[in-house]
Formats: sequence, structure tokens, C-alpha cells
Amino acid sequence: MARPFYVTTPIYYVNDVPHLGTAYTTIVADALRRYQRLRGRDARMLTGTDEHGLKLEREAVAKNLTPQQFVDQMSARFREAWPKLLVEQDDFIRTTEPRHERLVQWVWERVAKTGDIYLGEHEGWYCVGCEEFKTEKELLPGNVCPLHQRPTERLKEPTYFFKLKDYEQKLLDFYDANPRFIEPESRKNEVISFVKSGLRDLSVSRTSFSWGVPVPGDTKHVMYVWFDALANYWTALGGEGSPNARYWEPSGEVLHLVGKDILRFHTVYWPAFLMSAGLPLPTKVFAHGFLTVDGQKMSKSLRNAVDPIRLAETEEIGGPDGLRYQLLRYVAFGQDGDFDHRAMIERYNADLGKNLGNLLSRTLGLCAKLTGGRVPAYAPETLELEFETQARVHIDAAARAWDDLAPHRALEEALALSSLANQYVDRAAPWAEAKKDNPARAATTLALLLDALRALSVLVWPAIPRKADALRAQLGLAPIACATGTDQWPTLTDHDRAGRPLGTATPLFPTVDKDVEKALLDRLQPKPEVAESAPPPPSVPGHPSAAPEATTITYDQFAAVDLRVGVVKTATKFPKKDKLLQLEVDLGEPKPRTIIAGLALTFTPEQLVGQRVIVVANLAPRDFGKGLVSHGMLLASGPSEKLVLATAPESAEPGAKLK
Ligand code: MSP
Repeated sequence: MARPFYVTTPIYYVNDVPHLGTAYTTIVADALRRYQRLRGRDARMLTGTDEHGLKLEREAVAKNLTPQQFVDQMSARFREAWPKLLVEQDDFIRTTEPRHERLVQWVWERVAKTGDIYLGEHEGWYCVGCEEFKTEKELLPGNVCPLHQRPTERLKEPTYFFKLKDYEQKLLDFYDANPRFIEPESRKNEVISFVKSGLRDLSVSRTSFSWGVPVPGDTKHVMYVWFDALANYWTALGGEGSPNARYWEPSGEVLHLVGKDILRFHTVYWPAFLMSAGLPLPTKVFAHGFLTVDGQKMSKSLRNAVDPIRLAETEEIGGPDGLRYQLLRYVAFGQDGDFDHRAMIERYNADLGKNLGNLLSRTLGLCAKLTGGRVPAYAPETLELEFETQARVHIDAAARAWDDLAPHRALEEALALSSLANQYVDRAAPWAEAKKDNPARAATTLALLLDALRALSVLVWPAIPRKADALRAQLGLAPIACATGTDQWPTLTDHDRAGRPLGTATPLFPTVDKDVEKALLDRLQPKPEVAESAPPPPSVPGHPSAAPEATTITYDQFAAVDLRVGVVKTATKFPKKDKLLQLEVDLGEPKPRTIIAGLALTFTPEQLVGQRVIVVANLAPRDFGKGLVSHGMLLASGPSEKLVLATAPESAEPGAKLK
């Protein structure tokens, strides 16, 4: 019997709500678990939330909550979201749970015992978004994190280091001995060259905040959030000797699904921690790509605009099954992909409506007329035997694709089987046979179609379980129930159902017409806020998103706004964006700042150069796509076409602070 199977998603930071990116990995993990269970395997899926660290502590403070209150609220959002996407994880771990904290301290102690942890002092640029120290090489000018487009912070503190450098060769040897440990191949090469370029010891504790797991024996320190977080995959199983320990290597097969941005943590740090602790390593880390939406990068505002729960509630395109189908079939797992709303509707119509849905309704329609709503007898001839052979090719290929972690190919094979069955009905023409008074031929055709549909209900079940079970109900079959040790992958050889009643036929995937499509697009597509694709320029006062009425703020809130005098050095127009200008503004810093401002309807670039403007200097950078990031906002008043700039007198130095 195959080993137990254990698939994990990253545990999600709770400073965000579930979005299409996090939903994607979670859906893939669920589909893989379902597939393995169908095959009779003892399969387990873990997901959860990552709840410690400076980022979350700050976010809680900003919301006037204790960190615990904040993470409780946010973790619940994830736990409640996944069932709405038909995800059936076996366990949901939170890093603030005592079961995790106890075991991660145990892992730390094991690592410390081997002598791999020592006390030192660390100074460097820390990105709170990544919860990671960055090397200068990795940063953009102004010490900005390239991933978060936010300035990093200079931190200096006593810290425990993990002797990562000592693991350089051991890791390379491990990758060599386990060539399929990192997939896809291209990602593996990136990791290997990163390790070959030389590792540095890793800071694994922090003293400047307390929202973390205390370091055993030195409670001034809390564990580095990634040390804490990565261990979740192992702690969730309950530690050595627990019944669930069977899911870990060597008795279990362990598959970590991660986004490409966090591959290094999983393939360098995590294996090194495990090697040090004397624990077995996972079997595979698979990195998937990033999703864009309608061709745009998913900024935070766009992510929130494309809410997976709202999509899952859109029954017109299949509800949660429809969303899962789109993500699993049309994003090649391992590569970047685009979630395009219009294409989603077209694909729903083509694959689910006109192909699979149509096969079901025409088969059941003919059965109602010709077989009295029962499964007819099967007496195959050449046409049927040919069909069976071809169908088995698709069924086997679909299984291989799931085994190879390629759900997109598995579903392509399933839909190819559905197309084959539709072609077969046309060729076998049971309606004509019935008219020719050849009911046995018509019966055989319909029996085979019912078998094909039964096979299809299994093939698509990992991806679209609710619709697959609804399809089965129409065929008079019970919902799929997996049982360990019983492989239910279809073979198309058990034609033993003659005489059994069929269920009630109802359209499974009614197609969407042009009017409904338009209404759906209006409802679902995120509205471009400015011009074609950019988020609203942060620099336009009187922008509709500004609060209609001023609320009272405390002095401290006001003092948090860093207002400075700046001198505009250059101003350039954006092609195709008639409101925006790109400014380089001298704020008395080593280099002028790039600020993207919605000033172009009032000013020509020439009118702005040399102006002494007032800049909000500590506004979070805003990404306008194509590598353009705005690092501040200018103050002005009036409508976009008649702006009056807030300016400072000649005597004010660039960089002077306003109070
Ligand atoms: N907490 C860490 C993971 C710790 S695992 C021990 C973390 N959390 S996260 O919430 O920021 O990100 C979780 C996952 O979401 C990552 O795998 C990331 O790649 C994925 N995605 C975030 N945006 C995404 C897209 N636009 N598309 C696809 N996945 C994306 O990192």
C-alpha cells in the first residue's frame, strides 16, 4: 500500500484576508488530497495561519486591539473561508496555539543541543513585510524592499544565530541525492545557485518586540517568525510518537505547496533546521507561480476587489466548483497565471456548459425517451470497443497528471474524454437507431455514455466535488465516499448496472448568455480606479475616495504625518495616462524621490519644475505597475482640472519638516 500522504499549504499571515492567491494554493492542496483519497490513500491536508511577528503586532496596535484579539479575529476569516471553497482540510493550525508553541520550543531545544545556535548581535536592513533581514544587494535605492516596495528598517539587536553556513554543503548534497525535492526544475536551479553563492548564519531570535514564541531558556528573546512558522508542518502532527507522526517522512510522503516567493525559506532554512534537529526532511517542495487578475498584478486593493468568496457565491458560473475549475484547469500549476473574468465565463460555457453539461443532459434526455429512465443493457460492438480504448487513455493520463502535480492537465484529459463521448453520440446516433427499430443498439450507446459519465464524475471530483456529486445523483449514484485501501479511479470495465434507476435530470451547468455575461462582468470585474489600470494617484486632493467630512484626530495622530518641503527637479508625462505625472522631488535626501501625482490636467511638466511643494514623506509607497512606485504625496486643493498646489516660500530648505 502507498505511504500516507501529507499535503500542506503555507500558513497565511493574518494581516490580510483570504484572497485569490491564498485561495489558489488552498484549493490545489484540497484537490490533491481528494485525488489521493480517491485512490485509496491515507491522505491528510494541513492549512492554517501564521500569527506572530512584528508586522502583526504593529497591525494590532494600529487597530487598537491586543495582538491576541487581532489574530483571533483574522484567523477566523481564513477558517471560515475555506469551506466556502469546498476545502476540507484535516487540520487547521495556528502558531499561537499551545500545541504548536510547545513543540516549536522542543525543536529549538534540539537544534540548540547540537550546538547550531549561538548568541551574537545583528545589525541590518529588516523588511517587516517579508519579516526578513535583507542584504544591501537585495534592496532597491533608498533601502526599499523590492517585494513590498517599502523602505526597510535599520535594526541592531542581540540575537541568536543559527549556523546556516555549516549547512551549505549538506544542503547541496541533499538536493543532489533527492533530485525531485524541489519542483519545478527551474526553481530548483534558482535555489541551488542561491546556496552555492554562499549562505550566512541566520538571525533566529528578536528582542525588540515580544509577540512571538519565547526562546527556551532566554525569555528576553522571541523566535524569528520563520523559525516558528516553518515548524508548523511538523508540530501540527503532534510530535514524535503521536499517531499522526505516520504522515511525516520516512513513513509518510510530505508535500509542501508554496508560492515562488517563499521557496527559499522552505528549501534552505527549513531543511537546515530539520537536519540540525535530527528530524527527517519533507519529500517535496513544489513552488507555484503568481496570479494576476485580468492581466494586472494583484496589489492589495485589487486583491481585495477580487474576493474568492464572492466568486464562489456566483452560482451562474458554477459557484465554488466553477471557481475551483477555473483555477485548477486554466493556471498551469508551477507557472504564473492570469485570472481573467471574461475568459472565465467563456471557459465555463465551453467546458462545463457545452461539453460536460451537454453530454449529461443529452444522455439523460435520451434515456428518459428510450430506456424508461433506467440504465440499459450493454452489448458492445466495434464502435464501443474503440471508444473504451480511447477513453482509457484519457483516464490513465488524468491519473498520471494528478500524480505529477499537474491538475491542469488532469482536467484537460477529463474534458477530452467528455468531448470524445459527445463525438461518439453523434456517430452512434441512438435516436436514429431507435427509429430504425434497433433498440438494443440505442441501449448500448446509452449504457456506454452513462458509464463514461460515471467515470467523468470521478475524474472531476477532486476539482469540482459538489458538482461531481450532483452529476452522480442524476446518474442514480451515491456521492463519492473515499475509503482508505480502496482505489476508486474508474476503469470503464464494470458495466453491471443494467436496470438500475437514473436520477432526476436538471441542467448541471446552464450556459451563460450575453446579457447575463455582461451583468456578471459588471458585478465581478474590479473597477479600474484611475485611467486604465493604475490605483488612484495618492497625490490628488479632493479625490472621491477622500473622506467627505474631516474627523477629529489627536495631536499624536497628526504628528505621525511627516510633512516636508520638497523641490520638484523633473516632471514627465506618462504615455496613455492623461492625469498622471512622474516627479523627481528633492527632499534633502541623498537622492530625489519619485512621486507619481495626478496633476497633469492642471499643470504642464514645465510649470512644476522648480516649485517648492509640500510632501507627505512617510506615506507607504504605492505601486503603479511596470516598476513605477510612488514614494510620497504632494498636497494641493481643488478639482483635478483646477488644482492649486500647496507650496512653501523660497526660504524653506528642501527636507524641512512642517509642524
Ligand atoms: N506566512 C508566510 C508563510 C509561512 S509558511 C511556513 C506567508 N504568508 S502570506 O500570507 O504572505 O503568503 C502566503 C502564500 O500566498 C504564499 O505562498 C504566496 O506565494 C501566496 N500568494 C500571495 N499572492 C499571490 C498571488 N498573487 N498569486 C498566487 N499566490 C500568491 O508568506
